[in-house]
Amino acid sequence: MLDENPNGSNPSSNPWLSDLIEKRADRRTILGGALGVAAAQFLGSSVLSRKANAAAASATASTLLGFSEVPPSTADTIVVPPGYTWDVLLPWGTPLFSSVAAFQTDASNTSTDQQGQVGFNHDGIYYYPLGTGTQANRRGLIAMNHEYTDASQIYTAAQGSTITNDAAGREKVAKALAAHGVTIAEVLADSAGNWSHVVDSPYNRRITGATPVTFSGPVSPSHPLLASSITPSPLGTLNNCGSGTTPWGTYLTCEENFNGYFGTTSATWTATPLESRYGISKTGFGYNWHVAEPRFDVNVNRNEVNQFGWIVEIDPYNPNAAPVKRTALGRFKHEAAHVSISRARACVYMGDDENGDYVYKFISRQPWQAAIAAGQSPLDQGVLFVARFDANGNGQWLPLVFGHGALTAANGWQDQADVLIRTRQAADAVGATRCHRPEWVTEDPDSRDIFVAFTNGSGNNSPVNSNRDPNPYGHIVKLREPFGDHTKLTFTWSVFMIAGDPQYDANVPATQALFGSPDGIWCDYDGRLWIQTDISNSSQNRADRGYDRIANNQMLAADPATGQIKRFLTGPRGCEITGVHTTPDGRTMFVNVQHPGESTNYWNGLNGTPSTANPTTVSSWPYGTRARPTTVVVRKLDGGVIGT
Ligand code: FEO
Ligand code: CA
Ligand code: CA
Repeated sequence: MLDENPNGSNPSSNPWLSDLIEKRADRRTILGGALGVAAAQFLGSSVLSRKANAAAASATASTLLGFSEVPPSTADTIVVPPGYTWDVLLPWGTPLFSSVAAFQTDASNTSTDQQGQVGFNHDGIYYYPLGTGTQANRRGLIAMNHEYTDASQIYTAAQGSTITNDAAGREKVAKALAAHGVTIAEVLADSAGNWSHVVDSPYNRRITGATPVTFSGPVSPSHPLLASSITPSPLGTLNNCGSGTTPWGTYLTCEENFNGYFGTTSATWTATPLESRYGISKTGFGYNWHVAEPRFDVNVNRNEVNQFGWIVEIDPYNPNAAPVKRTALGRFKHEAAHVSISRARACVYMGDDENGDYVYKFISRQPWQAAIAAGQSPLDQGVLFVARFDANGNGQWLPLVFGHGALTAANGWQDQADVLIRTRQAADAVGATRCHRPEWVTEDPDSRDIFVAFTNGSGNNSPVNSNRDPNPYGHIVKLREPFGDHTKLTFTWSVFMIAGDPQYDANVPATQALFGSPDGIWCDYDGRLWIQTDISNSSQNRADRGYDRIANNQMLAADPATGQIKRFLTGPRGCEITGVHTTPDGRTMFVNVQHPGESTNYWNGLNGTPSTANPTTVSSWPYGTRARPTTVVVRKLDGGVIGT
């Protein structure tokens, strides 16, 4: 994603997880930055035990990580290990219907074209099989997110990137809105295993920033804080970052940095505490959509922004079903959603990606099958919790329930809808633990341990003199709930992996594969922990940020049991790697490449800043012309399981 608001918007004095990590480390005498033997317990089964296990690893090496590691890369292409191959599938602008215009490399496709083409900046992705048996591995639906648009890439040189208050400006906003959201596309493999999309499949669908949507759960779109002056309303989903999948076959798309689209030219507008806590400002992220469209002007239409920040459920198998905003899951900068089943309940783990924000879990009230059988969503009724990490390695899930604890009428809370619209403030009030940007969550299918990626932290002036403050490389934390039961409200936690380059940070094990800013994580069916990186555009490839040796963004695979980690794939210039899933047999992998060619400080310095007049200064991947976000299909040449 774009660099934005590094300081976050959390005004509370709640503790920081980074400080707790430091306190635990101090107690075990690993002061000075070097990891000592006594830190082994604190770091759980990985970082250090990996060192101890290094010799044994070759003897016990599972086929989990059977591939040859690829080196860091500065090349403007994808690199995968020997014995693997990759192909492009569903790049930005691909027509999903025969009636839609072909992609134009000068970016001259209209907003109407874009509504029937694959969106921009691919992110979270899941594969939904069509058919059973071997057929399920050869034909299915791709459901994937399109997080945001880049004005230097999606408009022509003549259009330029500036949004003006006229018909040309409104067309540009309309094209951007049409390039956001979700793509559902049928895909299939031929007899040689080559994948393509099915034009005019009845499943093909685009959901955009302007698609009619519905709300469900405690918050209604007619709530006084949501009711919009736009007709019709509610409309659309925005900043669709990571995603999740449910046992009942639906796709969860997560609205992350929705605040960035809103702004105002009003001189008198000031943010309320609610708006400040969600980062709403006059300028937003500089998109300036509000200049052309009053829908995005927070002075003209103050409530529209509160219709965003939700998780949206989409049924990929039913192209006529409206997307539903599941409000019981709370409102924040939703990164992704991991759905796990314990005691038949749907347990949904979620991160709020902002410096100083929190980790959440939702537990459904009913067994999920009972809810589905009754025609209800398991995600509409249940309790939302937020994580408190304790310095002794324990943790607690704190309920965000109206009338409970601090969330009373006496403290100004009105009802559960109010608690959910103001989720961040509710979590502040109950004493959640501030974190360095919680991103994706996943689960080891063997141990049922939960992994959370914390991508990086800009520094928090912490009361503890942390040697990871600021924390430019991030870390992955492991949560263990009693008996692997995800309905439990306590957990223990440990640091699974500290990312970084040991040349610049002595906390990082010397033999660990170089990587930084972990973001997308997913345990596959065999338990391989895939780790995708999103190093910010301001740091990528830069020695003065400690990222020169790590180079382009990448994807690695780790063994959750041993902590062994190897680099599997490196991306083209300016991109992040985000979103990964496989066919049920694990033999075809779908990986998304987001924002190749985006402006980065390093490549701009060498080749110039990309613009509508010259969009390829950073990257021209994958076709040697205008860079295009795309899905990449990875296969093993011998037809084996990816990663073996
Ligand atoms: Fe959209 Fe936190 O990455
Ligand atoms: Ca992300
Ligand atoms: Ca990110």
